[in-house]
Amino acid sequence: MGVLTNVFLVFVLFCVCMCVSQQADVYRLQPKYPAADNDEEGSKASFVSRDTNRIGRRLQAHQTAIFSLKGNVVPYGLYYVTMLVGNPSKPYFLDVDSGSELTWIQCDAPCISCAKGPHPLYKLKKGSLVPSKDPLCAAVQAGSGHYHNHKEASQRCDYDVAYADHGYSEGFLVRDSVRALLTNKTVLTANSVFGCGYNQRESLPVSDARTDGILGLGSGMASLPSQWAKQGLIKNVIGHCIFGAGRDGGYMFFGDDLVSTSAMTWVPMLGRPSIKHYYVGAAQMNFGNKPLDKDGDGKKLGGIIFDSGSTYTYFTNQAYGAFLSVVKENLSGKQLEQDSSDSFLSLCWRRKEGFRSVAEAAAYFKPLTLKFRSTKTKQMEIFPEGYLVVNKKGNVCLGILNGTAIGIVDTNVLGDISFQGQLVVYDNEKNQIGWARSDCQEISKL
Ligand SMILES: *[C@@H]1O[C@H](CO)[C@@H](O)[C@H](O)[C@H]1NC(C)=O
Ligand SMILES: *[C@@H]1O[C@H](CO)[C@@H](O)[C@H](O)[C@H]1NC(C)=O
Ligand SMILES: *[C@@H]1O[C@H](CO)[C@@H](O)[C@H](O)[C@H]1NC(C)=O
Repeated sequence: MGVLTNVFLVFVLFCVCMCVSQQADVYRLQPKYPAADNDEEGSKASFVSRDTNRIGRRLQAHQTAIFSLKGNVVPYGLYYVTMLVGNPSKPYFLDVDSGSELTWIQCDAPCISCAKGPHPLYKLKKGSLVPSKDPLCAAVQAGSGHYHNHKEASQRCDYDVAYADHGYSEGFLVRDSVRALLTNKTVLTANSVFGCGYNQRESLPVSDARTDGILGLGSGMASLPSQWAKQGLIKNVIGHCIFGAGRDGGYMFFGDDLVSTSAMTWVPMLGRPSIKHYYVGAAQMNFGNKPLDKDGDGKKLGGIIFDSGSTYTYFTNQAYGAFLSVVKENLSGKQLEQDSSDSFLSLCWRRKEGFRSVAEAAAYFKPLTLKFRSTKTKQMEIFPEGYLVVNKKGNVCLGILNGTAIGIVDTNVLGDISFQGQLVVYDNEKNQIGWARSDCQEISKL
């Protein structure tokens, strides 16, 4: 399953320094580019001269790159974009992962171990190697202790990246162009550094992989949005909106153009710059009106990260145990019978006539509310649709899983299941994370 959280960075979460600033901004998703048809004849001339005067500034004007998302929680377990790479450009499907930084594509270097993906392997080009003295190389290698001995400059920058689901990719960095569609309808061609992955283990299924690699959206300098922001192409703001209500796909963007005022809730990213994950600290959690941490403020439930590379949501042992007991208590007397026959989702319930959809099962459950300690008042509401799955047998199962069982110890990981029906924005310019309930239809207006 797609829990693609860099293990190393999860451990860094233990050394969090709490420096919290409160942000009271409220934002709304709203395209800001002008509607060309509305220009009055008389004002056109002045627009032209104003634009001419702005040319120096327009070179740095920031746009937003938009991408359509495909995928779902069940059965794909991931969301991906189509990235157009090279010249002439070729498409690659990349798993969208805000829990890691490096983007890599399966690559014919030649390949030692590659999955059978949806597209042919990326072909290495002459002169595209990124040398080890490049600052991006140091950024990518910083997570792996064993590169320190390579003192002498090398023509090639090797990387390896390990994920929390034990997936792994090994390769070296290359530079090539990546294309994206901007909100002003022009195509951006961005010089980009990414990994040529020639040795993968479990990070993609062995046969029939749905993607050709991973799109790392972490805040570090090596992620594509960070690279594009450094080149002045976009602001380092990333958003994703995945459909709820059993609908596949959604959209994603790089840039701040689609993020505007009102109706978004923001909390500060904590632990910057040492924590590269999108970490927002602990929250008091309530199931319905029942707190999971009865006597405390939620601190002992553990901190929270946002990770689009994770299919499900994972809780710490403390939070998971408390969540199970309040859910079970609340279901008592509701004529649902516990069922443990699903091999992956360990806790399910059956009802006589079965469940055809999550929407049908949701009526038996309550929203989970996370009230973030860093702000005291800001909260995220995860509706039952954000933590339930209906399996093949027609039973309803919890999509919040025991993180301790897969080695995630002190951190709660919010994954795709809980992002359904929400716009989530990672604002690396203002170091804040925001969300709003959304039908994710905005992109169709572009
Ligand atoms: C769209 O924005 C990009 C980046 O700012 C710019 O280079 C391009 O000229 C713009 N295109 C139009 C039609 O305004
Ligand atoms: C279940 O939760 C709801 C909302 O918090 C509450 O009103 C109801 O009394 C609870 N039922 C049980 C049996 O705990
Ligand atoms: C979570 O998993 C750990 C490790 O497998 C186990 O010891 C613990 O009891 C589990 N917690 C709950 C509440 O099931």
